[in-house]
This record gives sequence, C-alpha cells and structure tokens, in this order.
Amino acid sequence: MSMNIRILHDALETIRVDALVVGLAQPIVPLTGAVTALDHALRGAIGRLIELGDFSGKVGEAVILYSNGLIPAPRLVLVGLGDRARLRVDLIRQAAGVALRKARDLRCRQVAAWLPDVASESIRASDLAQAVVEGALMGTWRFAEHKSEPDGPSVEHLMIVASRREAIDDMRRGAESGQIVGEAVNTARALAQQPANVMTPPALADQAFALAQEAGLSCTILDEHQIAEQGMGGVLAVARGSAHPPRLVILEHAGQGGAPLVFIGKGVTFDSGGLSLKEPSGMETMKADMSGAAAVISALAAIARLGLPRRVIGLAPLVENMPDGRAYRPGDVVKMMSGYTVEIISTDAEGRLTLADALHYAKRYKPAGVVDLATLTGASVVALGEGVAAALFANDNAWAKTIRAAAGFCGERVWRMPLYPEYAGKLRSDTADMKNTAGRTGGVGASAWFLKRFVDGKDGYPWAHIDMAGMMLATDARGYQPKGATGFGVRTFIRLAEMDSRR
Ligand code: BES
Ligand code: ZN
Ligand code: MN
Repeated sequence: MSMNIRILHDALETIRVDALVVGLAQPIVPLTGAVTALDHALRGAIGRLIELGDFSGKVGEAVILYSNGLIPAPRLVLVGLGDRARLRVDLIRQAAGVALRKARDLRCRQVAAWLPDVASESIRASDLAQAVVEGALMGTWRFAEHKSEPDGPSVEHLMIVASRREAIDDMRRGAESGQIVGEAVNTARALAQQPANVMTPPALADQAFALAQEAGLSCTILDEHQIAEQGMGGVLAVARGSAHPPRLVILEHAGQGGAPLVFIGKGVTFDSGGLSLKEPSGMETMKADMSGAAAVISALAAIARLGLPRRVIGLAPLVENMPDGRAYRPGDVVKMMSGYTVEIISTDAEGRLTLADALHYAKRYKPAGVVDLATLTGASVVALGEGVAAALFANDNAWAKTIRAAAGFCGERVWRMPLYPEYAGKLRSDTADMKNTAGRTGGVGASAWFLKRFVDGKDGYPWAHIDMAGMMLATDARGYQPKGATGFGVRTFIRLAEMDSRR
C-alpha cells in the first residue's frame, strides 16, 4: 500500500532496480546530461529508438526498452515531457504517473526515476521531487477493497535520481510533502469510490474523525439533534427521506491563528434525486456525490500533517438524498439557518440546500476567504465538458485570481463563470424568499447565485464556488489519473493554504 521513497545521486547505468524511468524533453536529440552515459552503456539503444521514430518525447508518450544485461536494470521506461521550454511541474507529475503505472503493470516492485535537470532552470528541485512523488502515488492508485481476487504487486520502492548532489536535501523535503499530498488525493478518491451502502453520512463522519485524529486536526461532529439546534433547515430537509441521519463535520487546523480560510464540501453520500427521482442511469455514479466533502476532509488532514502556518477550517454537511414517506417534497417551503425561506421545486437540487447552511455557518469564523467545492450541476458538465474543467464562480476578483493560480499550479483546471444579476430573477418564488432551482435554462449560473444569497449581506466574505460535477470521475486513465474517482480539489485546497498566507 505505501511506497517507500528515497533520493539518490548515482549514475543511471549503475542502478539496480526492476525498471529505470527516464524522462526526455524535446528537442530530444542530441541526448544530454545523465542520459548520454546511459545510452553509451546501452550501446546506443536509446539513440537508435529515437532514430527509428519510435519515441519522440511527446507529452504522455511512454515506451519500454530492454537492456539485455548491459546495465543492472533489466528495463527502461522512457517517458515524454514535451517541449523543454514549456515544461511545468504538472507535466512532470503526468509523466511520473504514466511511467509508474506502466512499471506497476509490469509487476516492477523497485523503480528508479530520473527526470531531466530542469530543476536548475525553470523548476525548483523540491517542486520537481514533490511532483514526481505526487504523480507516482496518484498514478498507481487503485481501489480493490471489495474484490476477492488479490491485486498484482505494487511499486514498493521508488528512488528519485537527483541530477545534482547539492539538490538532494531540497528534493528530500519536496518528496516528503509529495507523499503527504499524494496520499491525501488517494484518500479522497477512496472515500468517493466507496459505495453508498458503506459510506453513509455517519460512516463518512467516522472516517473524518479517524483521519483528523491521525493528522492532529481538531474535529467536531454535529449529529442530527445538534444540526436541528443550529436551525440548519436545508440539511435537515434533504436528510429527511434517508434511513441514515445527517452529520456536520467541522475540522480545524489552528496554524498560527488569525482569520481562517474556510473550505466547504458537498457531502451527499448518495443522490437518488429524492422524490424528483433520477433515472437509474443518472444514479449509478451518485455514490460519488460526496466528492467535495471527501476533498475537504483529506485536504484538511494534509494541511495539518504539513504543519502549514495558515489557520484553516473545513466544513462538510453530510446527507443522503432519498425518496420516502418522510422525504421533503416539491412545493415544500424550507426555513434555512440564515432565516431565508426556500420553495422546493426539485428535490434533486439538494446540494445547494446543504451548502447554503454551511456557507451561513461559516460566517461565525469571520473568514479571510471561503471556497465551496461541489458536484452541483449536470449543467456545468454540459457547459465545460466531462473531464475538461470545473466551473469557478466568485464574488471577489482577487480571491478568484488566487484560486486560479493555486489550481493552475496543481494542474486542476477551473474556468471562471459569471454571476450576472439576471440569475436572481430566475430564482424568484411566489411563495417563499426564493426557489431552489431556476428550471432547465437557469442551469449552473442560477445554482451559484442561489449559494451567493447565503454569503453576501451581514458578515459576508470573499467567496468562491467550484462546481466539479464534470471532474468527479475519470472515464479512462490519463497521466496521473487512473480510471475512477479523481480527488479533484484536494491539491488546490492544500496549495491555497500554502500560498495565501498574506491575509
Ligand atoms: N449531484 C447532482 C449533479 C451531478 C450530475 C453531479 C451529474 C455529477 C454528475 C445534483 O444534485 C443534481 O441532481 N443537480 C441537478 C440540478 C437540477 C435539478 C436543477 C441537475 O444537474 O440535473
Ligand atoms: Zn447531488
Ligand atoms: Mn441532485
């Protein structure tokens, strides 16, 4: 399960491992640095492969080369990094993910990886090592908890080869962070991948508690009675139809104090749509409708383990959305924690009801910035494309810019969408303060506007909403993303806590 990671500075042609991963950027010829000596030891096999046109160094390209006893490593995985001048940490992560998954599938237990000495140019040595470790851990993740057949072997030892001896200490620190971050992403993926009969709201709350304990994070869990005492009518309404009671997970990393960042995650452990029942095909993936909550919980644990100075709060309202004789109905009026009343048009627009209460709850912290992460609308998937980008909404340009920078560094794509005031009209209700949906043509903008109503006003704060519905699950393996749950948002949250220490 866990990967043992070391940094060393040895000649590539002397390292004894099951697979030697070598990253090559373009222009690929002439071969440079450590690869020149390696190719010499291999009697020009790498050069020949390139000459034949079988490997060009494109992003995502990976080939196996057998060394026929010329060096101790029996095989090489050559992996492409693309144009050297355009190399970014995320491409290193992608390459590490592709190469390590390939090595793992070839049943290699010991792997050494060398990625070019770009460290001295545009990328810091610590960031390079961190990216390799993150890519390796994320790329080789798999979820086989419910399978009777055992998995094939995992990569047990990863050696990262430093190009310069002076960089070893920096790389070691980067690798340690990478291990915490990569494991956090995989934890979020595993939580999301768990079926809804296992990962009920109380079960997810228990997981959050256990993770918090391990990480040295303070954790408070409100049960259904305490949620009622808080007046969280949105959370309670959605939870009514379920046999499993709701929970509110509250995590706090104290850091060095001050106005905190607050991260909020949608935690619908299963979304049947409620009485506004989804079609069966639309329900299959809805065990992952708590991906936002999983990301918040895992990111907070990582932030604590990294010992970041920033104070950070995590909130995850956990519910299951089911049809039942006690379930909330279309036409019901729900009184929210903020005091606003909401007319329910669709019980399938449940996430925003739970998030609205959490967004209101967040006001007590006087936050420096809030981000909510949610698998909120199918409309966001239609707008931006499945697996392409998440939708970002914000009431504050500076905060939006910070988030885009954090997400960009992590290779987690977010695309900013507008909050035009016309969306308000679409939510107007004859009966209550607002409706919970704007109908088919309101889509993603109205959902964000709905949330904004619970942020602005008294004790308002800089806020951003990330609709990650399209990024919830990967349909195919690519880069460091195996098929399945993505853990989207975990790294952006961690990065935000790292970089936004100025407020
Ligand atoms: N959890 C869904 C959104 C979703 C859809 C996430 C597909 C991931 C993949 C959400 O609760 C939902 O049902 N949204 C409705 C909103 C509508 C009723 C206004 C939707 O998108 O259809
Ligand atoms: Zn949902
Ligand atoms: Mn729904």
